[in-house]
Amino acid sequence: MPAAIKPPRHVGLIMDGNGRWAKKRLLPRSLGHAEGMKALIALSRHAKELGIEYLTVYALSTENMASRPREELEGLFGLLRQYFGKNLKELHASGARVKIIGDISAFPADIAELLADGEKNSPEGAAFTLCFALNYGGRDEIVRAAQKLASEGGAVTEERFSDALYTAGMPAPDLIIRTGGELRLSNFLLWQAAYAELYFTDVLFPDFGEREFDKAIAEYNKRNRRFGGV
Ligand code: IPE
Ligand code: IPE
Ligand code: MG
Repeated sequence: MPAAIKPPRHVGLIMDGNGRWAKKRLLPRSLGHAEGMKALIALSRHAKELGIEYLTVYALSTENMASRPREELEGLFGLLRQYFGKNLKELHASGARVKIIGDISAFPADIAELLADGEKNSPEGAAFTLCFALNYGGRDEIVRAAQKLASEGGAVTEERFSDALYTAGMPAPDLIIRTGGELRLSNFLLWQAAYAELYFTDVLFPDFGEREFDKAIAEYNKRNRRFGGV
């Protein structure tokens, strides 16, 4: 990547297209998800090397949790078990912090525990945070924040609202990438995306490698972010 390119602080990644990747190859969807996990491992290393501070990956939406067949959800849980079982130590050792956003209380207990340990054992003051959106929905997050503020009372301000979201303390995403060809957010970081640059690609997530990621960052660097100014 050219030296003039500046990394965004926070990238959101909607990892879509695993099922279609598998279907094209006449493989079960679960294999598409497994390939997607490999792509994620490579991309998170790459993002850290580029100096990106936060990578938030959309791995399971509230709608996926409610609407995908039980068998597919079990397969995804298996992948989470495998991912966190194998990669957590390496991630931590490399100086990366793990954060979870979403409601994981309905996940199998052993996974919820792995995820909680992943957050708890993260190194202090890490320069890179890998944030997993799991059973995450932007609307759900906003309603929870509203409930919290209502129960606490007092003035409702943007600052207090932001602090009541799962992402409290994180900067808003500068860039949101969606793979898989759909042109929508599908309930991802609705509040936080207010001024994110959006990048859509037809590349299916298992095929979305480092070069594709670099293309998105290069495109981001060409954008003129005005934040309502002139
Ligand atoms: C995205 O891939 C990953 C999850 C939602 C878990 P999909 O499973 O949505 O893949 P497509 O969109 O059917 O190809
Ligand atoms: C969005 O993908 C959610 C994740 C990538 C985790 P979906 O495949 O669920 O989105 P829709 O249904 O096409 O909007
Ligand atoms: Mg999809």
